[in-house]
Amino acid sequence: MKDNNAASNALISVQSLKKSFGDKDVLTDISVDVNKGDVVCVIGPSGSGKSTFLRCLNRLEEPTGGHIFFEGVDICDPKVDIDMHRRKMGMVFQQFNLFPHMTIMKNLTVAPIKLLSLSQEEAESYARELLSKVGLLDRAGDYPMQLSGGQQQRIAIVRALCMKPDVMLFDEPTSALDPEMVGEVLSVMKDLAHEKMTMVVVTHEMGFAREVANRIMFMDEGRFIEEAAPEEFFVSPKNERTRLFLSKVL
Ligand SMILES: Nc1ncnc2c1ncn2[C@@H]1O[C@H](COP(=O)(O)OP(=O)(O)OP(=O)(O)O)[C@@H](O)[C@H]1O
Ligand SMILES: [Mg+2]
Repeated sequence: MKDNNAASNALISVQSLKKSFGDKDVLTDISVDVNKGDVVCVIGPSGSGKSTFLRCLNRLEEPTGGHIFFEGVDICDPKVDIDMHRRKMGMVFQQFNLFPHMTIMKNLTVAPIKLLSLSQEEAESYARELLSKVGLLDRAGDYPMQLSGGQQQRIAIVRALCMKPDVMLFDEPTSALDPEMVGEVLSVMKDLAHEKMTMVVVTHEMGFAREVANRIMFMDEGRFIEEAAPEEFFVSPKNERTRLFLSKVL
């Protein structure tokens, strides 16, 4: 959490963010910076506002108040071209949302060709490079339904990376997977973190959070009530509600 003054050098600077749906206040007053290279894990009870927070970061949800500076630009300003900024923020959801009628290669290259003006060869060559990193180069010609859930989610991560984002936002990327497929997706995310990708990850995977994050933020009832480095967070949480939550999930 941070002081609430002007733009900072953070990659993402959230200032007094509020979000309500009708008369229901979901995010009450959030101010937080995400710095380049941060791996922030957001944890907290169901319904506390984690997804809403994440989706506000690239304005998939419209904030009802406050400001979000991304790379120094207030993306809540109605005058900004949000699509242009959103391209730099990769997003991966619980459901992979691959295009079912397109091959994996087509899934990976359609946006970069259209939006980054890459040639087909350039886009395919970059896609192959990333596919080989996640061990799925041989599946380039397949259709999504020919892949397992874990493989599809690795493709969804690659698809986001093909846009060369400056930050990756993950909303419970392993929650819809069979348990035996969780590890392969977390391992791709771990590699990304080691490559210094800036990441904001909503997750229930406490082991991952503890091992990979440099910051844990605990959300309860629409605000972050505790933030700490993983060791401190898991070993000596300060807030009573954090302790209660951890006692249930650990
Ligand atoms: N489009 C919407 N319209 C109305 N209420 C909504 C909408 N989206 C979310 N909410 C409400 O906002 C609150 C926070 O939801 P959110 O999905 O952000 O929680 P969460 O922390 O991600 O929960 P979970 O761990 O179950 O995914 C909930 O009470 C939810 O019902
Ligand atoms: Mg959620």
